[in-house]
Amino acid sequence: METKVYQVITPERDAAIEKAAAVLRQGGLVVFPTETVYGLGGDATNPQAAKDIYAAKGRPSDNPLIIHVAAPEDAEPYAVTSDAYYRLARHFMPGPLTVILPKKDTIPLSVTGGLETVAVRCPAHPVARALIRAAGVPVAAPSANRSGRPSPTCAAHAAEDLTGRVDIILDGGDCEVGLESTIVKLDGNKGVLLRPGAVTPDDLKAVLPELSIAPAVTAALAEGERVLSPGMKYRHYAPTAPLILLEGEESAVRAFLVEKASEQGVGILCFNEEVNLMPKGAILFPVGARADLTAQAHRLFGALREADAHPTIKKLYAHLPPKEGLGLALYNRAIRAAAHTILHIDRT
Ligand code: TXA
Ligand code: MG
Repeated sequence: METKVYQVITPERDAAIEKAAAVLRQGGLVVFPTETVYGLGGDATNPQAAKDIYAAKGRPSDNPLIIHVAAPEDAEPYAVTSDAYYRLARHFMPGPLTVILPKKDTIPLSVTGGLETVAVRCPAHPVARALIRAAGVPVAAPSANRSGRPSPTCAAHAAEDLTGRVDIILDGGDCEVGLESTIVKLDGNKGVLLRPGAVTPDDLKAVLPELSIAPAVTAALAEGERVLSPGMKYRHYAPTAPLILLEGEESAVRAFLVEKASEQGVGILCFNEEVNLMPKGAILFPVGARADLTAQAHRLFGALREADAHPTIKKLYAHLPPKEGLGLALYNRAIRAAAHTILHIDRT
């Protein structure tokens, strides 16, 4: 399959959006930007499109897809909505939040991995919104990476993974957030946070006081443990070189990193302010200032892709993110990438 790439600058009047929308309606696949990460989209009402998405991604077909709509109320034909859904929508949609609701028959089981629930998201990115509106169908889209790779935060990442596997890639520049959406499963007025993202637990609790956090967000799953979200059971992404996360007092961790940085084959995801402390020749992937979690979220997946592409790295070190605020989303992605390997550094 030939993959066409189009730069989209003014979504509302763009011919590429019209072309991509027609491709979606005909059952084809389109990569498009969202404010979180790039998505690999197909018509969510077309079972064959869902099958093709799984094939293009190399993803197990029991891991359900999120359906993307242009406005919260556009979910009505596809999901059983509720007061709690519209309360969340008023505060966080369009935006980086996905809500899981009971599904209606209009959404094939091949989209939901056989589940009777469906994940609904209304993205804020102008290209995503224009595309969904022009297509006139809900767009099922997982992140536009090959299964087992970090989610793509720019069109080049998606092209790396999916060229020859999709019809069109719409290039809308860098994703603002850089981590996938927050996922909440609703049961009446109760919500369970399944995946942390840019909408934080505190943001959610202000609107949905009865919010709990699924244990798998911060902990390893025990063998055979049942999960609420099929995506939780897959080792999402693991770098080619093992990643080790460091926790402990700031200066002790820093001293440890400076020492490791001079070893052969070691790569370090460091804070910007640490770059000048490192020995000459160290292989560094700065991820942002220590205090700037927004920058770190924006940068994490790109840094992991660069580390993967580096020819000599045998071991990667990174700071363990804090669990507060946006840090929880970083923490959740980091422990997965590290297969839960955390090293505690004591003061020496
Ligand atoms: O930011 C995002 O959410 C991006 C952009 C493209 O919108 N999409 C994304 O999709 O991250 P994906 O497929 O990579 O991750 C979706 C997650 C998976 O872990 C899946 O298991 C979970 O959502 N999920 C989807 N439908 C579900 C359902 N009905 N019940 C529980 N979990 C569900
Ligand atoms: Mg994904």
